[in-house]
Amino acid sequence: MTDTTPFDTRFDDDSLMSEPDPTGRFGEFGGRFVPETLVPACQQLEAGFREAWSDPEFRDELDTILRDYAGRPSMLTECFRLSEELGVRIFMKREDLNHTGSHKINNVLGQALLAKRMGKQRLVAETGAGQHGVATATAAALMGLDCKVYMGAVDVERQALNVFRMRLLGAEVEAVHSGSKTLKDAVNEAMRDWVATVDGSHYCLGSVMGPHPYPWMVRQFHRVIGDEAREQCRAATGGDPDVVVACVGGGSNAIGIFTGFVDTDARLVGVEPAGGAAVRHGVPGVVHGMRSYLMQDEYGQVEEALSISAGLDYPGVGPEHSWLSSIGRAEYPNVTDDEVVEAFQLLSRTEGIIPALESAHAIAWLSREAHTIQGQTVVVNLSGRGDKDVAQMMDVLGDRGEA
Ligand SMILES: Cc1ncc(COP(=O)(O)O)c(C=O)c1O
Repeated sequence: MTDTTPFDTRFDDDSLMSEPDPTGRFGEFGGRFVPETLVPACQQLEAGFREAWSDPEFRDELDTILRDYAGRPSMLTECFRLSEELGVRIFMKREDLNHTGSHKINNVLGQALLAKRMGKQRLVAETGAGQHGVATATAAALMGLDCKVYMGAVDVERQALNVFRMRLLGAEVEAVHSGSKTLKDAVNEAMRDWVATVDGSHYCLGSVMGPHPYPWMVRQFHRVIGDEAREQCRAATGGDPDVVVACVGGGSNAIGIFTGFVDTDARLVGVEPAGGAAVRHGVPGVVHGMRSYLMQDEYGQVEEALSISAGLDYPGVGPEHSWLSSIGRAEYPNVTDDEVVEAFQLLSRTEGIIPALESAHAIAWLSREAHTIQGQTVVVNLSGRGDKDVAQMMDVLGDRGEA
């Protein structure tokens, strides 16, 4: 199997974003903070990933599935009307056009292929907005694996459509009623399941978080976004953008696109929700197997994140983002729910693209800050489409008398 995507997805080890150290750390962040029972599973996964990633046959098979099943390369669309409105030259990296509607599919196809190669018959996953759960259920169906998805009870309610999709795809969905009943609690349950079933199950983690090797492995599965975007931007403009913007929950779509530009002069902006601003308002702590910025109260208890978008409702952030922030290479501003609602409407109205509420965070920052970057070129990672959020927005806008 050759002649896969037209973009070279092989990575360059001299990059600022190469491998974490042997203990899985990016500077002081990352690591592997797991119960003893999971240490061998993490080690086995690291060895399996290392071996697969350096095997051209695995890479070719993955590239082929990404092309023929997921629809890569995703387009880079110049947004003329929005550009005119904001006074900035804007391109969108269209991860919303991938099969299943978001960037999540890149990582999941990689992990499912790896799980199969490692002889696992079952995928366990957590999901917030449901996009990662849908992507995992899809990959499981494609590859003939069993699948169980944990989802906070609050998210089950606000993302009912995605729950139905997962069940249609043959996955078992379990609502989690502990804690804030959102993503953080779903991760806890998925990890518990993995501990109990580790011989036959692979934990298909949905973002660049968790114990080593997940943050690194998931980043490698998403770097295709940045590699494509850099080539596409150079072809369209003759150079690199001034600014690259993406939303940050755990941080996978942001790290995917940042990877393509980290060694250029582009400003890297990861936008968090104001109610879940782990980098801006958090302090280093340990959660879900990693050390990273984490929203905690004065007693070190994890604080609940609050965001209009289920996919960003996470009190922590992937460790590589904490590191990129600490060395000043990337910045992590936040936007309010109201700004996000406006951005959701703005992109829909000006470009005919209804964004996921998560992606609308990136557009909200751009819209607020446009006056400071007039005339510059910006690439926005449009991480997903808004179909899943339309019912929720009908309620929000209905309450305001705008729908
Ligand atoms: C469309 C979309 N964008 C972004 C995210 C946030 O995840 P991450 O920060 O890992 O990209 C999610 C998570 O569910 C999502 O569905």
